[in-house]
Amino acid sequence: MTQRLQLYGRRHGRPLRRHRSELLESLLPQVALERPEPGTSLSPAPLFDAPVSDVWLEIGFGGGEHLAAQAVANPEIGFIGCEPFINGVAGLLSHIDHEGLTGRVRVLADDARFLLDALPDASIGRCFVLFADPWPKRRHWERRFIGPENLVRLARVLKDGAELRLASDDPGLITWMLEHTWRHPAFEWLARSAEDWRARPADWPQTRYEQKALIAGRTPVFLCFKRRDRSA
Ligand SMILES: C[S@@+](CC[C@H](N)C(=O)[O-])C[C@H]1O[C@@H](n2cnc3c(N)ncnc32)[C@H](O)[C@@H]1O
Repeated sequence: MTQRLQLYGRRHGRPLRRHRSELLESLLPQVALERPEPGTSLSPAPLFDAPVSDVWLEIGFGGGEHLAAQAVANPEIGFIGCEPFINGVAGLLSHIDHEGLTGRVRVLADDARFLLDALPDASIGRCFVLFADPWPKRRHWERRFIGPENLVRLARVLKDGAELRLASDDPGLITWMLEHTWRHPAFEWLARSAEDWRARPADWPQTRYEQKALIAGRTPVFLCFKRRDRSA
């Protein structure tokens, strides 16, 4: 039985260049995760070719440049990326191919909520949701990825002390994400001064959407939250 989760946004864009189409045929089957069936559990650590010290998750990785750069910078970590937009998946595959990350990156080319619902409690050490779709119209606000339902999902799968990194250049979405995440009892905002949310941390590679925002004269904001200890 397929779970009823409505995905907003597109799955396909412009026709892919030949090399990227070939990667979808040849490399994707090596790194792809099947959409987990409702009610099943998917333990993340055994998904990788070799043991990993932790598993980090990127939701809506776009072209995959951030995920790939994090994987290169953190060779002991296993990465899972979720992205339903197939052109973005092809972009990540090209980074995986170029950087030799086949053993350490897994891809769900689908809605991240299927994965979140299958992950065991406290199984993810860090999660990135960067420049998510802002859905500016009021009647679409409930489509925003960071919101009451998905914060419950994230709070469940994140380990105690895990970081949740959010970014946006959309003032409405920034306020919305801050309000919801701050209000959620599982999350603590780590900013101590304005510099902490104005400046992208050094270990946070730039994404394509951040570049687009800067070129368009918009100001990105970087929000780091910690998943509080369950025992506290
Ligand atoms: C505005 S783009 C940002 C891409 C990238 N993070 C960046 O900063 O360049 C948002 C991405 O989130 C993806 N997305 C939207 N809903 C999603 C969901 N439920 N699960 C996973 N990805 C999702 C979209 O397909 C899109 O590629």
